[in-house]
Amino acid sequence: MDRFTALRVYDEGGIDARLEPITLDQLGDGNVVIRAAYSSLNYKDALAVTGKGKILRSMPLIAGIDVAGTVVRSDDPRYQEGAEVVVTGCGLGENHDGGFSEIVRVPGDWVIPLPAGLTLREAMCLGTAGFTAGLALERLEHNGANPALGPVAVTGATGGVGSLAVDMLAKAGYSVAAVSGKRDQEAYLRELGADEVLFTDELDLGKRPLEKARWGAAVDNVGGELLTWLTRTIKPNCGIASIGLAASHELHTTVMPFILRGASLLGVNSVEVPRALRERVWQRLADELKPRHLDRIIQGEIGLAEVRDTAEALIARKTAGRYVVKIA
Ligand SMILES: NC(=O)c1ccc[n+]([C@@H]2O[C@H](COP(=O)([O-])OP(=O)(O)OC[C@H]3O[C@@H](n4cnc5c(N)ncnc54)[C@H](OP(=O)(O)O)[C@@H]3O)[C@@H](O)[C@H]2O)c1
Repeated sequence: MDRFTALRVYDEGGIDARLEPITLDQLGDGNVVIRAAYSSLNYKDALAVTGKGKILRSMPLIAGIDVAGTVVRSDDPRYQEGAEVVVTGCGLGENHDGGFSEIVRVPGDWVIPLPAGLTLREAMCLGTAGFTAGLALERLEHNGANPALGPVAVTGATGGVGSLAVDMLAKAGYSVAAVSGKRDQEAYLRELGADEVLFTDELDLGKRPLEKARWGAAVDNVGGELLTWLTRTIKPNCGIASIGLAASHELHTTVMPFILRGASLLGVNSVEVPRALRERVWQRLADELKPRHLDRIIQGEIGLAEVRDTAEALIARKTAGRYVVKIA
């Protein structure tokens, strides 16, 4: 463990992400040291390593908001050496050295024991994307969602969160309408369980505050006009989980869906999650929510050296599904 390799991001006028050998004393503080087996590439990671978005609060910093691996040292009695664990969010790869590193050090409160039913690799096939899709489903169910209320629209459907949400919702018995900008991915989305695929360039987004109500729930990964459209078309007393901003951070709507249809806009934040809820969602991901098509959703296993190029492709919308990062 003397020297290990990490993908560190520097701000030197421009953003530069480079692989370099570092030592434990160069890592952020924490009382649990993990030998990483896998990480994954999320939209946020892609923004961080390409410099296309301001994700890293200070630099140099190791990127990577997810990691799964084995505890090699712990001053926290909850985790013994050799235990398999997962860390997602909590500031990892944002304000604390992240998961694109052979060795990761974090505070014990961030660590979740790998739930029975998942391997370390499967945990990172899910990663923050899967955790967020699971959290969105929790929020929607808490708001009363159930398959009898009607189809669920999922925007940004071919992305990491989108693909996993389609798979999980279909498995849970929902009829899923996948909304995507990628015409060549209809077969992929149907394989994951979508009953209907809507292409964004064919959608009539409407103009009125309320259009014909269609959705028993919605999962939005893109923000902007598509989220506005969801607020116009959500059914009475149903909920929209707002997850992402891949298209825009803006939302222009009216209060009509809320006061005339009793609709709810449910915020989803995968970074700061009470520990009991975090553990519950991971348990569910290992059990009844475990996607049926993880192998199909994972488009490739990459090494740390390929993270940057894959991140460029992800931002350019040239990818579908997810990439798992093999570290050990
Ligand atoms: N709230 C949270 O805690 C949380 C957690 C995880 C992710 N997120 C956010 O959720 C979003 C999805 O994350 P991800 O990791 O799944 O990313 P991703 O794999 O890159 O997927 C994003 C998808 O959004 C669609 N998209 C991309 N650019 C777009 C644009 N300009 N206009 C319309 N659609 C666009 C694409 O799907 P199609 O081509 O199929 O339309 C793309 O595959 C990101 O904004 C991310 O920051 C939030």
